[in-house]
Parts: sequence; C-alpha cells; structure tokens
Amino acid sequence: MKREPRLSNAALMARRAAVIARGVGQAHEIFVERARDCEVWDVEGRRYIDFAGGIGVVNTGHCHPKVVAAVSDQLQRYTHTCFQLLAYEPYVELAERLTRLVPGDFAKKAMFLSTGAEAIENAIKIARVHTRRPGVIAFGGAFHGRTVMAMALTGKVAPYKKGFGPFPAGVFHAQFPNALHGIGVDQALASVEHILKCDAGPDEVAALIIEPVQGEGGFYVAPFEFLRELRALCDRHGIVLIVDEIQSGAGRTGTWLAIEHSGVVPDLVTMAKSMAGGYPISAVLGRAEIMDAPAAGGLGGTYAGSPLACAAALAVLDVFEEEHLLERGRRLGQRLQAGLRTIAERRPQIGEVRGLGPMVAIELLADGRADRPDAELTRRLVAEAARRGLILLTCGIYANVIRILVPLTAPDALVDEGLKILSESLDASAGG
Ligand SMILES: Cc1ncc(COP(=O)(O)O)c(C=O)c1O
Repeated sequence: MKREPRLSNAALMARRAAVIARGVGQAHEIFVERARDCEVWDVEGRRYIDFAGGIGVVNTGHCHPKVVAAVSDQLQRYTHTCFQLLAYEPYVELAERLTRLVPGDFAKKAMFLSTGAEAIENAIKIARVHTRRPGVIAFGGAFHGRTVMAMALTGKVAPYKKGFGPFPAGVFHAQFPNALHGIGVDQALASVEHILKCDAGPDEVAALIIEPVQGEGGFYVAPFEFLRELRALCDRHGIVLIVDEIQSGAGRTGTWLAIEHSGVVPDLVTMAKSMAGGYPISAVLGRAEIMDAPAAGGLGGTYAGSPLACAAALAVLDVFEEEHLLERGRRLGQRLQAGLRTIAERRPQIGEVRGLGPMVAIELLADGRADRPDAELTRRLVAEAARRGLILLTCGIYANVIRILVPLTAPDALVDEGLKILSESLDASAGG
C-alpha cells in the first residue's frame, strides 16, 4: 500500500482519535515508520533508541535479518492451513525445541496459540481438566492478559479490570512478596495458606499461577525461596504450578526462562512475546501427562501456531544459539544495572534499581520513601526522554516504575547513549 507523503504524528493522532476506541491506550504520541534492532524512526524522520522493545517482544531486536529471512521464506511456501486441519512441520519442530528448553527431567508436550492471554486461558483449561478441580490462585500485582479469565487472574483493578466484570468464579489472589513495600516471604506464603483455609480447600484448587518476575506489576523478582516453597505446597496438594514467562521468558533474564534461576521445576509454562521476535505466537509447555489431559478438539484455534510465526520462532531460537544471546543478555544486564546505579547515586528520586539479568527497572519515590511512589515524576521522565529520543515504558502497581526491555542485541554504544538520555531526562524532570 502506498503511504501518504509527509505524515505527521499530530495529524495521525487526530485521525486515530476519530476512529480508534479510547480504551486502546498509547504511551507515546509517535507513529513508527521503520525499526531496526534497538532503533525506531517515526513518520517525521526522528530517531529513537528503543528501551521498551514493543513491551518485551523484540529481545532479538526489531527486524532481525534471520527472522525476516525465515518468515519471507515461509511466506513463499504457505501461510495458513490451520494446524488442526492440515499440519505442518515447523509447528512440530518448534514444540520439540522449546520443550527441551523447559526445566524438568520428564516427558513434555507443547501447544501453540497466538497471544499471551490465550496461552494463559489454555494453561488454566488444561490444569482444570487434569485435576478435575475448578480453583486458581494468582497474585496481587500480577498481569496475565485481557481476556476474561486472564483479567480475572490479573491482580490490578485499574485499568485492566475496572468495569469489565463479572469474572469467572474460583479465582483467588494471594500476596506477592515485595520487600520494598513491606510484604515478606512469610507473609506472602501465609496469604496462600489463608486462601486454602478460607476460600477454597486444596482439593478444589487446580492451579497456582505466578510470574517469576512480575512484568506489568513492577519488575518485582519473586524470591527463589518463595518459589521453592510454592513448589512444595503444590506438590503437597496436587496443585499444578503454572509459571507465566510471557514477559520474563525468551532470554529476558539471562536464562531462557526466568524460573531457571530458582532451580524450581514448574508443571506448565506459558510463553509469548519475544519467543518469535514480533510475530504473534504463544505457547503452553509442560508435563506430558498434564498437557494430554484435554480430549482431542478441546484445544487449538484457527490461527494458533501460525506457520509464519512458527518460522519466526525457530529463527529466534537459532539467533539465540548462533549469537550467544543469553550470555550477551547477562552482560547487558550488568551494564544496565551499573549505569542505573550510577544515576541513582546522584538522584535520590531513584528509590531502587532492581532486576534479574537484563530485565531491569528503576522505581521512583518522593523523598526516597517507599510509601510515596512518584507516578507524576515517572510520567514526566518518560515524556522528557521521548522528546530527547529515548523510548521508555512504565509499569508498577503504583505506576512509578520504569522497566527496561531493550533488545538483547543492542550495541553497547546505543545502550550507553540511552542511559545518558535517561539520566539527563531525569535531571530535567526532577529539577534541583
Ligand atoms: C506476564 C504476562 N502474561 C500475560 C500477558 C498477556 O499477553 P498478551 O498481551 O499477548 O495477551 C502479558 C502481556 O503483557 C504479560 O506480560
């Protein structure tokens, strides 16, 4: 399709406002013309360093040439047959390769879908059929998506759940440990036990679902000891432990899955986002006997595991191997954490620098006080950084966290340039 010459962000915003539903938010008033690796250019020709990576989708960088080549090649062969009607090999190969990357010395199986929320829905369906139980335990601050069950599991009301109820019954929220905001591991574990005592007995709970690092919720890392205790609790009661790696997986924390850091072996894993470098595909992976619980026809979807996205996901796996991206990601994490700590030494507004590998965030507080999250400063910083050519993304239950999801392929010089802009933007927005 021929593009109009000289598009402007402002003109496109006006067109957008007239025809796009208000509920579809937009963090920046920017329209993209092209993107490569960790850089994006807008329709006015302005260039940005991208520290948001399409919300954690391009760990291999925008338009990685190997991913583009694999999709182009697949485009010439066939683009859709529906796997449940006429199957294709890339789907099977992807399942073979991804199940090998999930911890656990037992037989594993996979299924593919299109979005993260769909993976969540299906993981719950599978756990329910396997256990013949209805209940699910999730955590405060969790984000699992925007479909009805995923919304129910999400632990943040505004804007994700407000007015969208009623939600499915049988979903309970425990506390997620958060040292900065005063929730210890013991308290969080007690909140799970409280649910099992007061809301649903263990024999009514099918699954417990947790993000090893909360994404949307604020990049809070689940203490490994907490994850091990949850594993033991699930074992005691025959509850399926589902680990949502939609944001933390695909190398984001320096290992393929974030759960690997803890040594915990989950029963089911959900993936999406960076597993295919920008092509829509998601996965449920895990113990073969659990995955096999639903009868034939109970799982699937017309576009689920599209051949184009399978080709992209296979290329992403190749890129991780060939370019040693996990190792590179670990070095990137150190660089980001060191750079952000240097800024924090100068700027007391940064209350905490935290993360796991290259899944890094800063939390902004007024007067360095955890009970005074500074959402307003966070908003000003993001706007100022964009004016100076750096794309940032917020998160957090208090909207006062900047999360960094820069591609793992980003050259050091561009990472440093981004950190410098962040530092200068914070000076400009925090004043004094
Ligand atoms: C941890 C987690 N789970 C689920 C989802 C939902 O994924 P999707 O937006 O692809 O439906 C997200 C999206 O941000 C996520 O971060």
